[in-house]
Amino acid sequence: MFKDLGVQPYTFPMPVLLIATYNEDGSVDVMNMAWGGVCAENMVALNLDEDHKTSRNLKARGAFTLSIADLPHIREADFFGIATGNKMKDKFERSGLHAQKSARVDAPVVEEFPLTLECKVVECQHTVYGFRVLGEIVNVLADEKVLDEKGKVDPARLNAFVFDPFRSGYYAIGEKVGQAWHTGAELVKK
Ligand SMILES: Cc1cc2nc3c(=O)[nH]c(=O)nc-3n(C[C@H](O)[C@H](O)[C@H](O)COP(=O)(O)O)c2cc1C
Repeated sequence: MFKDLGVQPYTFPMPVLLIATYNEDGSVDVMNMAWGGVCAENMVALNLDEDHKTSRNLKARGAFTLSIADLPHIREADFFGIATGNKMKDKFERSGLHAQKSARVDAPVVEEFPLTLECKVVECQHTVYGFRVLGEIVNVLADEKVLDEKGKVDPARLNAFVFDPFRSGYYAIGEKVGQAWHTGAELVKK
């Protein structure tokens, strides 16, 4: 028996992505974003409230980085989604995390996060559905500890977590249960 839940932004899982930008004085700002992700081989889309400090920063500098947080930094990741750089001038400092300048884009790389996409802003879209930023991925930085023997990112070593839009929980990612383009392949032959 189905029950109507109305209009809700319900997809699952939603990512926990951290956008890092520079403030006008060169200090770092980071925000937590669930409504975004890849939209092409070399592109990401960010759905943002235009009033966020992050939105102002990435428009001014034309760049940002997008990181995946790991479980040891869940507290800091959530904090980045509560506090705003518009009001809290020492937001990043308070997190206790560290950042270095990206070698490729005018944005900071948070050193504690295991995987970071370095991105250039290519388009800012103002639509009736909200403000959207398209970013070109110019490089991906991975902490060596999350790479397998072949140099590929191993999700188990990434130790990431996801966002649940139904009850606002964070969930650790569980066991591997299949292989894409393989688990369902038998049905193709039927
Ligand atoms: C789990 C979570 C997901 C969020 N997802 C988004 C999002 O997709 N888009 C958005 O504009 N704000 C999102 N936010 C809110 C921002 O992270 C928050 O308003 C933050 O304070 C903005 O920081 P800033 O003003 O320093 O840029 C999210 C917050 C949390 C906790």
